[in-house]
Amino acid sequence: MPDLHVVILAAGKGTRMKSSIPKVLHEVAGRSLIDRVIDTAEALEPASITLVVGHAADRLRTHLASRSQLQFVVQEPQLGTGHALLQTAPVLKGRTGTVVLLSGDVPLLTADSLRALVGAHDQADAAATVLTAIFDRPYGYGRIVRTDGRIARIVEERDATKTQRQIREINSGIYAFDVAPLFDALENIGKDNAQGEYYLPDLVGIYRRRKKIVTTATIENGVEIRGINSRTELAEVSKMVRQQKNEELMAAGVTLIDPSTTYIDSNVEIGADTVIHPCVFIEGGTRIGAACEIHAGTRIVNSTIGERVVIRNHTVITDSTVRDGATVGPFAHLRPAADVGEDAHIGNFVELKKTTLGKGSKANHLTYLGDATVGSGVNVGAGTITCNYDGKTKHPTVIEDGAFIGTDTSLVAPVKVGRGAYIAAGSTITSDVPAGALGIARGKQENKEGWVEKRKIRS
Ligand code: UD1
Ligand code: CA
Repeated sequence: MPDLHVVILAAGKGTRMKSSIPKVLHEVAGRSLIDRVIDTAEALEPASITLVVGHAADRLRTHLASRSQLQFVVQEPQLGTGHALLQTAPVLKGRTGTVVLLSGDVPLLTADSLRALVGAHDQADAAATVLTAIFDRPYGYGRIVRTDGRIARIVEERDATKTQRQIREINSGIYAFDVAPLFDALENIGKDNAQGEYYLPDLVGIYRRRKKIVTTATIENGVEIRGINSRTELAEVSKMVRQQKNEELMAAGVTLIDPSTTYIDSNVEIGADTVIHPCVFIEGGTRIGAACEIHAGTRIVNSTIGERVVIRNHTVITDSTVRDGATVGPFAHLRPAADVGEDAHIGNFVELKKTTLGKGSKANHLTYLGDATVGSGVNVGAGTITCNYDGKTKHPTVIEDGAFIGTDTSLVAPVKVGRGAYIAAGSTITSDVPAGALGIARGKQENKEGWVEKRKIRS
C-alpha cells in the first residue's frame, strides 16, 4: 500500500504494569508486544512506519535496532494520545494518503482487520475511520457515542456519564486518518478532561463539528483489539495466544497430551507425530522435527531438535542442537552450544556446555562435559568430568572416535584422548593419551593381608 503510513504509539509508561521495563517490551508467548504490532504493520507493506517513543525511549531503540524501516519520533513529556500523534508532524505533515494509527499495547490485531479498516475508510472517503468493537464488558475503554446512527464522539470511561457507560460499542484506539486535514485538527484538541491529557479520540468531535466525514468499521473478532494495560491482561492475552498456537500445532499433526499445561511460544516449529507431554515449555525460536517425544517437566529454549529424538523428563536445553535419533535425559542439562550427534545418548545428571558429541556416543550418567569435542562411538563413563576451567581461562578437551573413558575420570584440559584409546576408571588425566593406548593415572592399590584381625588384637 504505497499511500499508507503507519504510526504506532508507544511513548506511555504503562503505569498500571508497575514495571521497570517499558510496557510494550513485555512479552506474550515469547514475543514482545511491540514486535507483534510492528510485524502486523510490516505485513501491510506501508510507505513508512513511525514509532512514537518517550518513556524508556533508548531501551526501545536498542531493542528495535535491526528494524531498518522504522522511524522514531520522541514525545517528551507524554501529554496524551492526541499529543503523541501530533509529534509525527515533522515526518508526515504535507504528505498525502492515509495514516493508520496503531497502539503499541494492542498485540493481537491482524493485518486483514487493518486492510478492512482501510477499505472502509477509502470507501467512505472519510477524514477519520474508527475501528470499534462490541464488548459485553466495555469497562475501561472509550465509548462510541452515536447520534442518528452516526458516530458523534468518543467518551473515555473516566469522563463518561452513567448512561454513556452502558454503551457497549468501544473505541479500539486504532484509526485510519486522511493525512491532509489531520495535523491542523490535532492542534485543536484540548485537555479539558478527567486526566488533563490531549485525547486523540476528541478528533472525532472536532471533525464532526467541521462537517468532515467520520465513520467506523466494527471488528468481528473483538479479541483482536484487546489492549494490555495490566499484568492480569498480559496473562489473559498470553493464554489466548498459547491456546491458539497449540490448536495450530495439533491441526498440523502434533500430539499434545494436555494442551492446557503445554507452553509453546509463537515462533516455535514442531513436526508431525511428535508427542509433547504435560508441563513442557518450548520457547523462542526452537524447532523440533517429526516423531519426537518430549516428556513432562522439560524446558527447551532457542534450540534445534532433529527427528525421532526422545527427551526424557525434567531436561533443560538452551541454545543447543540435538540430532536425529538421539536420547536425552531424564534430568539432563544442555547449556549453550551443546551439539548432541545422531543416535547419541545423554543420560541422567549429565551437563554439556559448548560441547559436540559425535554420532552414537554415550554419556549416560553423572557427567560434565565443557568445551569438549567428542568424536563418534565414544563411551563416556559415569562421573566423568572435564576440568575445563583453571580459574582464569577455559581450555578444550578432545576425545577422538571410539575412545572409552572409564568411570570417574577427570580430564584436566587442555588434553586430548586419541582415537580408540582407553582411560582406566578413577584416572586424573593431565597429559594427552595417544591413539590406541591405555591411560591410567591413579594410586596403585595395596592389600594388607590380615590387617583387620591385627587391629582387633591391638585394641
Ligand atoms: C485508549 C483510548 C481509548 C481506547 C483504548 C483502547 C485515548 C485517550 N483513549 O485508552 O478510547 O478505548 O485506548 O485500547 O486515546 N501513549 C503515548 N503517549 C501518550 C499517551 C499514550 O504514546 O502521551 C501510547 C501508550 O504508550 C499506548 C497507547 O498510546 O501504547 C494508548 O495509551 P493508553 O494510556 O494505554 O490509553 P488507554 O487508556 O488504553
Ligand atoms: Ca491501552
